[in-house]
Amino acid sequence: MGWLMWSCQLLCLQLVLLHSLSFALLVFSTSHEQSSALLHFKFKQLFSFVESGAYRSCDTQLHYPKMKYWKEDIDCCTREGVTCDMVTGHLIGLDLNCSWLYGRIPSNSSLFLLSHLKKLNLASNDFNLSEIPFNFVRFPSLIHLILSSSNFYCQVPFEITHLSKLISLDLAVNGLDEGVLTLKTPVMEGIVHNLTELEELVLDDVTMSTVGPGYLTNLSSSLTLLSISVCQSHGSFPENIFHFPNLRTLELSGNYLLTCSFPKVNWSSPLMYLDVSSTQFSGEMSDSIENLKSLEHLDIRSCMFIGSIPTSLVISHSCHI
Ligand SMILES: *[C@@H]1O[C@H](CO)[C@@H](O)[C@H](O)[C@H]1NC(C)=O
Ligand SMILES: *[C@@H]1O[C@H](CO)[C@@H](O)[C@H](O)[C@H]1NC(C)=O
Ligand SMILES: *[C@@H]1O[C@H](CO)[C@@H](O)[C@H](O)[C@H]1NC(C)=O
Ligand SMILES: *[C@@H]1O[C@H](CO)[C@@H](O)[C@H](O)[C@H]1NC(C)=O
Ligand SMILES: *[C@@H]1O[C@H](CO)[C@@H](O)[C@H](O)[C@H]1NC(C)=O
Ligand SMILES: *[C@@H]1O[C@H](CO)[C@@H](O)[C@H](O)[C@H]1NC(C)=O
Repeated sequence: MGWLMWSCQLLCLQLVLLHSLSFALLVFSTSHEQSSALLHFKFKQLFSFVESGAYRSCDTQLHYPKMKYWKEDIDCCTREGVTCDMVTGHLIGLDLNCSWLYGRIPSNSSLFLLSHLKKLNLASNDFNLSEIPFNFVRFPSLIHLILSSSNFYCQVPFEITHLSKLISLDLAVNGLDEGVLTLKTPVMEGIVHNLTELEELVLDDVTMSTVGPGYLTNLSSSLTLLSISVCQSHGSFPENIFHFPNLRTLELSGNYLLTCSFPKVNWSSPLMYLDVSSTQFSGEMSDSIENLKSLEHLDIRSCMFIGSIPTSLVISHSCHI
């Protein structure tokens, strides 16, 4: 019974969204109601949702305030965007992508009581240039954390490196217009050291100007997707990453001072998508690129390669000196 009482505290989640012309606040609060049933979300009032500029990536058809349609007194697990574990009843997934959330997430939000959460997707909302809450560390079971295009600002908190079960981490395109989201060396070291299960790492537009690309060397070799376009990354990109056995997408474009050349020998990998455009990638365009049998997209525009590209490849644009 112990878990049930605890669950009830967590599950009876109330969402209140307050909004006035210049002020909106997203508050999650707990109710201590007990229930013998599965976890239930409860919410009292949803005054208003705000459409802001942060929704560029949302399909207008699918883009609406999901929580507005959440009904009280029905099993929360049936609510749109909510996933529960069928056996334990714990709430394990929250997908509030494109849900018009506006405001900061208070550090005492009862969101952080959902300690069984495995998947959290808050992409394409507007967190009003607030910092990514370090309280995400309260989700030790988290395997997917998606916070892209949500107007987070400032520094990626070190605590994110404690989420050692993460399989995907997406912090791309934050700090729209007014600011930038920055990732510092200790955080990257922590990601490399602790997030050993990582398969997808997406940091496009996150400023990493102080992180030497060498730190990426020891990233989890389970990676299938690495996307770090326009990160102000400069220096020498580690060649070993081209040999990662499962890597299918490598997106490095727009790092104008990032250098490297393609492996000259023994380059076989399942790469399907390779974009190194607008970088300082250089050297002989080696035949080894022909070994990439799965390659569907290659972009080497505005690079400094020498030689021509094997005609057998499908090429979006070639690059000449
Ligand atoms: C959004 O940020 C602005 C500027 O910091 C602040 O004045 C406003 O109260 C914030 N709104 C919310 C809902 O947090
Ligand atoms: C969170 O803290 C603020 C004050 O810092 C308080 O006004 C609010 O009621 C608290 N919310 C919850 C859910 O405890
Ligand atoms: C968010 O939802 C939109 C559809 O509205 C979809 O295109 C997009 O891929 C989703 N993004 C994430 C990160 O889940
Ligand atoms: C790894 O995670 C543990 C907690 O799980 C934390 O104490 C430690 O600081 C992290 N190490 C690095 C290098 O980030
Ligand atoms: C990568 O790991 C190897 C072996 O553990 C270690 O010797 C090397 O210093 C690490 N490189 C970086 C950049 O952390
Ligand atoms: C390339 O592969 C061959 C055969 O597996 C091996 O003998 C050789 O050492 C490899 N060369 C490099 C540079 O890794």
